[in-house]
Amino acid sequence: MTRKVTKAVFPVAGLGTRFLPATKSIPKEIMTLVDRPLIQYAIDEARAAGITEFIFVTSRGKSALEDYFDSAPELEAALQAKGKDDLFADLTATNMESGAIAYIRQNKPQGLGHAVWCARRLVGNEPFAVILTDDVIAADTPCLKQMVDAYQDTGGVMVAAMEVPPSETSAYGVLDVGGEDGALLSVRGMVEKPAPGTAPSNLAVIGRYILTPQIMDNLGKTERGAGGEIQLTDAIALEIAEGRPVHGLCFDGERFDCGSKAGFLQATVAFGLARPELHDDLRNYLHDVVAQQKAAQ
Ligand code: UTP
Repeated sequence: MTRKVTKAVFPVAGLGTRFLPATKSIPKEIMTLVDRPLIQYAIDEARAAGITEFIFVTSRGKSALEDYFDSAPELEAALQAKGKDDLFADLTATNMESGAIAYIRQNKPQGLGHAVWCARRLVGNEPFAVILTDDVIAADTPCLKQMVDAYQDTGGVMVAAMEVPPSETSAYGVLDVGGEDGALLSVRGMVEKPAPGTAPSNLAVIGRYILTPQIMDNLGKTERGAGGEIQLTDAIALEIAEGRPVHGLCFDGERFDCGSKAGFLQATVAFGLARPELHDDLRNYLHDVVAQQKAAQ
């Protein structure tokens, strides 16, 4: 089978309850870090990895997300007329070619595994990437690109792996590692949200995957797992059980959990500091806030 990965699935059909009431009317993926929505970071990462077809698994209330990628003729004309070339370039960079994006619906949130399975006909018979937009990763080489490069040697399934404190493993899918070759891990087991004290390691899976079409068949057969949802982890674990290769890549980069409020705020600070035009003001402000907090203690 080809190892060229040109399709990516973006499951964005979740309810986003941790950001209520905001997510009552705004899709979580449209929330912005500095001035760009989470979905833009995900799309940029996918493009940098060579992805040319973008498949969104959406649900009710996500129309703002669909509109985001269309051209905005009035805005574009207004910026051009005013000679605001930089803003015009930023704006038009968000437009997607007609036909590059497909939207498919998950009509009830039944878990990440089920959301991925909804894209089976569009994915067809080739390997594909999955990107969870909640996980925003700051890296010199974008995380998915690191994975696609490593995948050229491994084939099979690849997941992004990251060390987490042992007290946090119960929030993740966790790897049982059979061997290591630098940043590459060969995986001999995977458990979704292990009960505290039972995790096979402190290597957690985060929201980047390269999957084989076989995973779609596995998902079709997968029973509901942890939380009563159809779990992607269970479908990947079946690959291991049936003797097919699954690897983890300990990517280089810093991951922010933008599905949680604390992670989102941290990412806002980090991406704000990374902007030359904001850096000094923001740093001074943070410095003053910390000094005030310390003085008040
Ligand atoms: P989360 O577990 O973060 O759930 O899903 P959520 O609904 O987005 O947010 P909370 O926990 O209620 O705050 C991880 C990813 O899987 C997608 C979500 O959109 C998110 O990108 N997902 C989850 C689906 O597309 N469908 C589902 O049924 C569940």
